[in-house]
Amino acid sequence: MGLWSTKNIAQLQAEASGVGVEGQTLRRALGALNLTTLGIGAIIGAGIFVLTGTAAAQYAGPGIVFSFIFAGLGCLFAGLCYAEFAAMIPIAGSAYTYGYATLGEFIAWIIGWDLILEYMFGAATVAVGWSGYFGAFMNEIGLTLSKSMSSAPLAYVDGVGFARTGAVFNVPALVLVLLMTILLVVGIKESATFNNFIVILKIAIVLLVIGFGFAYVNRANWHPFLPANTGEYGHFGWSGVLRGAGVVFFAYIGFDAVSTAAQEAKNPQRDMPIGILSSLAICTVLYILMALVLTGLTNYKTLNVPHPVFVAVAAAGPALLWLQPIVNIGAILGLASVVLVMLMGQPRIFFSMARDGLLPAVFGKVHPKFQTPYVTTILTGSIAAIVAGLFDVGTLAELVNIGTLLAFVIVCAGIIVLRYVNPNIERPFRTPFVPLVPILGILICGYIMTGLPRETWDRLIVWLVIGLVIYFSYGKRHSKLGRAEKAGA
Ligand code: ALA
Repeated sequence: MGLWSTKNIAQLQAEASGVGVEGQTLRRALGALNLTTLGIGAIIGAGIFVLTGTAAAQYAGPGIVFSFIFAGLGCLFAGLCYAEFAAMIPIAGSAYTYGYATLGEFIAWIIGWDLILEYMFGAATVAVGWSGYFGAFMNEIGLTLSKSMSSAPLAYVDGVGFARTGAVFNVPALVLVLLMTILLVVGIKESATFNNFIVILKIAIVLLVIGFGFAYVNRANWHPFLPANTGEYGHFGWSGVLRGAGVVFFAYIGFDAVSTAAQEAKNPQRDMPIGILSSLAICTVLYILMALVLTGLTNYKTLNVPHPVFVAVAAAGPALLWLQPIVNIGAILGLASVVLVMLMGQPRIFFSMARDGLLPAVFGKVHPKFQTPYVTTILTGSIAAIVAGLFDVGTLAELVNIGTLLAFVIVCAGIIVLRYVNPNIERPFRTPFVPLVPILGILICGYIMTGLPRETWDRLIVWLVIGLVIYFSYGKRHSKLGRAEKAGA
């Protein structure tokens, strides 16, 4: 009881009709294809366009391909678990709701709190990556942005902590987040249409880079494929592959964003697993090929830049000159679509938490005309915009990754628990080979977490402590489930 109270799944399924705190509903407008493109829209972004290059240069060389395979495996196992939950409990809130149904309110709160790292900070991270490509693009067309107004004023320096960089604010990152927020307040259908268009463009550009890039690969760049460890943990060799996986894991984040839109799906039982697993599978194949091409076109050491895909394509020489502006524009549009989906996921998690009483009712307000959760969309967008304006991409990405990995571990554990406590509930999609698949998900995601640096762990702990304070001072007292239990006792 109390901390460990779980929500009744039948009750959750009844809630799947999507009634908000004040009786408003979310509109069911998304089909299987929309959901898959929504997933791809969230997945392909700063991870492949920015972090692949920096992680190859700093941690693994061409061996970053192994990092992608390893991180992809962790996501596959976690994705299979997400798919079972998303089909069974197709309501907004994603992993938070799954935790509530299986592991109890306290763990659900921790997941929900963790997901803020994934979505709100994730949106900020990608906006910073976007700003890098945007700056490069403006430079190409002769409109150089002032560095002090387009980069982070704070950067983390090992052994020193956060130091001022001399810059004032990352204005382009802030503006992007605010624009996307407005689009989301206006409506989901319009946003999904916009997203579909950009996703097609983004896949086309990734395929162009892979297809044309392969022809210009210089095989010498792949030797050695896995550069020897420098003597420092995490710098090349197999520990570098692990650290690399901890960074490029960011590239896979987003397939679970599909599950946050469950309440807006037309046929969630069938379409949720399709959306989650196909977006993940498509992106995994693209990433492995892309990592091979990038590290084959140029020496991995040259990829430690804000726009590595552009640099790799430029290394192919005049033959691929035509592809360079296409890459820049694709990255700009592609990363913007990721920011959009992340900003869309976060309010829907707040929405569920408010409906349960763990957050104030105002978090669950749906706009009477647009039918969107406008209060939380604006709140999320405002905070993400400020964070994006202040911090660098690497610091943010690592924090997002550790929070998301923890949420994945808990979701995998939830599948095992539910098979024991509620074996007979209808499961439109069953995670195969339980408990093997969830256990592998827990082990791989947990192992990737161990590859992240100590200060990232410290930040996660601080974040969780803040979450606990809020839970015990507000959430626990206002929990609807808790109150109902008290009333019934
Ligand atoms: N997977 C998303 C990206 O790489 C978050 O930008």
